[in-house]
Amino acid sequence: MGVWTDHVFPRVVDRVLRTPEVNARRALVCGGLHGRLLEIGFGSGLNVRHYPAGVTEILIVEPSAVALRLAKPRLAAVDAPVTQVGVDGASLELPDESVDCVLSTYTLCTIPEVTDALEEVHRVLKPNGVLHFLEHGRAPTESVRRWQRRLHPAHSRIAGGCNIERPIDDLISAAGLVIDELETGYGDGPRPLSYLYRGRASRHA
Ligand SMILES: C[S@@+](CC[C@H](N)C(=O)[O-])C[C@H]1O[C@@H](n2cnc3c(N)ncnc32)[C@H](O)[C@@H]1O
Repeated sequence: MGVWTDHVFPRVVDRVLRTPEVNARRALVCGGLHGRLLEIGFGSGLNVRHYPAGVTEILIVEPSAVALRLAKPRLAAVDAPVTQVGVDGASLELPDESVDCVLSTYTLCTIPEVTDALEEVHRVLKPNGVLHFLEHGRAPTESVRRWQRRLHPAHSRIAGGCNIERPIDDLISAAGLVIDELETGYGDGPRPLSYLYRGRASRHA
């Protein structure tokens, strides 16, 4: 894909997505994770320090070798066993109903086949299992939406395929998950890039 996307951009993400504001949101979204956890789009492991003690096993899906290298010292600090179980959230090499929780942060914007990825999340979650999500996506304000439409082609090229126009809550619901908690609003940064969706969605029994 090129030097920028493969080598530079994962390092940019590692820097930009660990501001105090983002870290506070990470702490919130990680609250309540437990048991066998799958994190899709694991990146450089910026959520690891927010995992609660109740997480007993960590499964990760991440295609970027550079991000995984950056994650190594963070993973070295956890006690729970860690396994990389794949490189594509849209095709999970895990049995049905095999994980307690799934975590996705700033990733549903980037996975090309996001609908398939959410169906996979639904498939691998145990009954009553929960998806914890912190994502950015489509804004509700028409003037901001216009800017999202304008910026999308260039932003996507620069930002590893990131699509700022995705209606995250609708996509999650369309996969059959039930949204139990949702907080939305603009975070820090330019409004077309910073409309956030944070919450939890469960696979009902
Ligand atoms: C903006 S980064 C966010 C990384 C991390 N989740 C975080 O919060 O810092 C998006 C991540 O999604 C990963 N990604 C891209 N395509 C993917 C796919 N098909 N399946 C899973 N992850 C993917 C990228 O390599 C990147 O690490």
